Amino acid sequence: MLPTPLYPACWQAFYNLTTFDPLLGNTISVMRRWPGVFLFLFAVLAAWGAPQNTAKPPSLSNPVNGFVGSTTCRGCHPDIWLNFYRNAHYQSIASGKEALDKTGCEGCHGPGLEHAKKPAQTNIKAFSQMTSGQTITACLGCHSKDISKANIQRSAHTEADVACASCHSIHKAATPKNLLAKQQTLLCYGCHTTVKASFEMPNKHRVNEGVVQCSDCHNPHGGAAATWRTGIKPAMMQHTGDGETPCLKCHVDKRGPFVYEHAAVRTEGCEGCHMPHGSMNAKLLKRPVTFTLCLECHTGGGTFGTQGQGVTLQSSSHNLLDPRYQRCSNCHVKIHGSNGDPNFLR
Ligand code: HEC
Ligand code: HEC
Ligand code: HEC
Ligand code: HEC
Ligand code: HEC
Ligand code: HEC
Ligand code: HEC
Ligand code: HEC
Ligand code: HEC
Ligand code: HEC
Repeated sequence: MLPTPLYPACWQAFYNLTTFDPLLGNTISVMRRWPGVFLFLFAVLAAWGAPQNTAKPPSLSNPVNGFVGSTTCRGCHPDIWLNFYRNAHYQSIASGKEALDKTGCEGCHGPGLEHAKKPAQTNIKAFSQMTSGQTITACLGCHSKDISKANIQRSAHTEADVACASCHSIHKAATPKNLLAKQQTLLCYGCHTTVKASFEMPNKHRVNEGVVQCSDCHNPHGGAAATWRTGIKPAMMQHTGDGETPCLKCHVDKRGPFVYEHAAVRTEGCEGCHMPHGSMNAKLLKRPVTFTLCLECHTGGGTFGTQGQGVTLQSSSHNLLDPRYQRCSNCHVKIHGSNGDPNFLR
């Protein structure tokens, strides 16, 4: 196609070409001598130069590379189509700008020409027939920017063959947002029945009440490597931008940095002392009596402490037979770290 700005220049060049006209006995422009020829040439150029008509949307009578367009599917799957306009995936049809293999029904189910001519489960990408690996590949074809391939690949869910369609329902979603098969808590409890009990304990994060969600702390798509708890990644934890434990997102006062850190918070993570889901003990502590928790690590030198470093025994000034000394956090009030005192007394 000729760049449009060149047209007047061409025209001018032809006009400047002259020939001798025997009738007029004069030299005139070739264009005036054979106007028909030039009108024809002009018409050809104009048609050639006009912006190409965008390809007609594919249909059963006009398939493009095996794609027949979503309206073809609508004819035989009206139930699926009925609510599809509310689906986030409808955007690709509405915009009309996506490539055919990224548009509408065929964006997920693949080209449908053969299937539309002779419907069968076998000649269309039917997710009911696909392995979890195939499903993940199909969905990540578009979602690899939302979900890290590396993280989902090594997540406990993928390892256990729990894939996208185990949690998401594209056509019968219970939650329009995120297209979940069930409301989140019910979805997770559906498979994690034992976890339910921990959220019914006297002290708990109020997940059942909707105050906190599983996905505030966990990433069902697998988490990235952690910078806390010496990098050992517990239970697909969600993480903040800095790779911190998700607990700090809400409990910001525990973030620090503190002049005097309690090493345990960083090395063991919050789980070192707390039950994250729920607990019989106040403040979600792992032990009913605070000093037994402290004495798990503060047993004296040697290879004590769960990290194996020698953790100081409580001071010799402490008489543990004196009940006063058993409530350690009564005096060591800044137990998560302090800016004023190396012993966390203030
Ligand atoms: C002429 C009617 C017709 C058209 C057009 C049609 N389908 Fe189907 N489709 C069917 C029938 C009938 C079945 C059930 C086949 C079976 O169970 O063997 C089916 C099955 C399917 C399945 C498999 C469901 C499963 O069991 O998991 C999918 C996916 C599907 N269609 C998607 C599409 C898509 C996408 C389009 C558009 C490209 C489309 N269909 C167009 C009639 C049609
Ligand atoms: C985002 C990907 C995606 C898009 C877009 C999509 N589907 Fe599906 N489809 C699925 C998945 C996944 C399943 C498996 C069942 C489920 O999760 O709901 C499925 C199941 C089906 C089934 C089997 C019936 C059923 O309910 O199990 C049919 C038929 C079907 N789709 C047709 C269509 C049609 C028609 C369109 C366009 C209006 C479409 N699909 C768009 C992913 C998609
Ligand atoms: C052809 C590209 C494409 C494929 C394939 C695809 N998606 Fe999507 N998906 C999109 C687009 C576009 C959106 C809407 C924009 C956004 O929120 O990112 C979307 C949105 C979503 C959402 C979020 C809805 C919301 O409320 O924000 C979920 C969940 C989702 N897709 C799941 C899936 C699953 C599961 C599969 C595989 C069965 C899949 N998608 C396959 C393109 C795709
Ligand atoms: C174990 C259940 C589970 C599995 C498996 C799962 N998801 Fe999700 N997904 C969720 C939940 C729960 C949310 C909502 C998270 C939230 O509220 O922050 C979500 C949110 C999303 C979203 C929208 C928000 C976002 O993170 O961008 C997309 C897109 C999505 N999932 C796609 C997928 C795809 C693609 C797969 C498969 C590769 C998949 N999911 C596998 C449970 C799951
Ligand atoms: C379809 C069943 C299913 C659903 C739904 C499901 N999970 Fe899982 N989940 C599993 C299986 C199976 C495993 C691996 C075995 C195990 O550790 O229990 C797993 C593992 C996990 C783990 C890691 C456990 C560990 O010890 O490392 C966490 C955390 C988790 N799931 C959270 C969730 C959350 C949060 C949801 C809801 C968004 C959810 N799961 C939904 C089946 C499911
Ligand atoms: C307040 C943050 C938080 C919330 C909310 C939360 N979890 Fe957890 N969960 C954790 C932490 C932290 C661990 C790791 C515990 C450890 O390693 O000692 C964990 C461990 C797990 C495990 C593996 C160990 C076990 O107890 O079986 C599963 C499964 C799990 N969570 C599922 C869920 C489900 C399902 C929900 C929602 C109903 C949920 N979690 C809500 C923080 C949370
Ligand atoms: C989404 C926000 C959120 C996240 C993430 C979160 N919490 Fe909480 N946490 C709360 C709220 C809100 C409460 C108050 C109790 C209530 O209202 O149910 C609470 C209460 C607590 C309590 C008890 C406080 C008391 O006075 O009894 C402890 C301990 C605690 N959280 C620890 C953690 C740990 C450890 C983590 C990470 C594994 C965590 N939280 C993650 C919101 C969060
Ligand atoms: C070394 C043990 C230990 C570690 C590690 C630890 N905590 Fe605590 N935490 C405690 C003790 C003990 C209490 C109870 C203090 C009291 O008696 O008032 C407590 C209380 C809390 C409370 C409720 C009272 C308050 O101060 O707000 C929250 C919330 C809390 N911790 C969150 C966290 C978070 C978040 C982390 C991880 C960043 C964490 N804890 C790590 C020992 C610990
Ligand atoms: C998970 C192990 C662990 C638990 C549980 C724990 N600590 Fe620590 N604590 C440490 C480590 C490690 C240090 C770093 C100093 C060291 O090596 O002795 C430390 C330091 C301290 C210090 C500062 C003094 C010093 O020697 O540097 C005090 C005070 C202290 N802990 C009090 C407590 C109290 C009170 C509790 C119970 C609420 C508690 N700790 C629970 C591991 C723990
Ligand atoms: C009555 C207040 C009080 C109580 C209760 C208390 N402490 Fe202390 N603790 C102190 C004071 C004051 C110091 C600093 C002076 C000293 O060493 O006596 C201290 C120092 C420490 C040190 C640092 C010792 C060193 O040599 O650097 C540790 C570790 C410690 N306490 C652990 C504990 C543990 C564990 C408990 C619970 C079993 C506990 N404390 C209960 C007041 C208390």
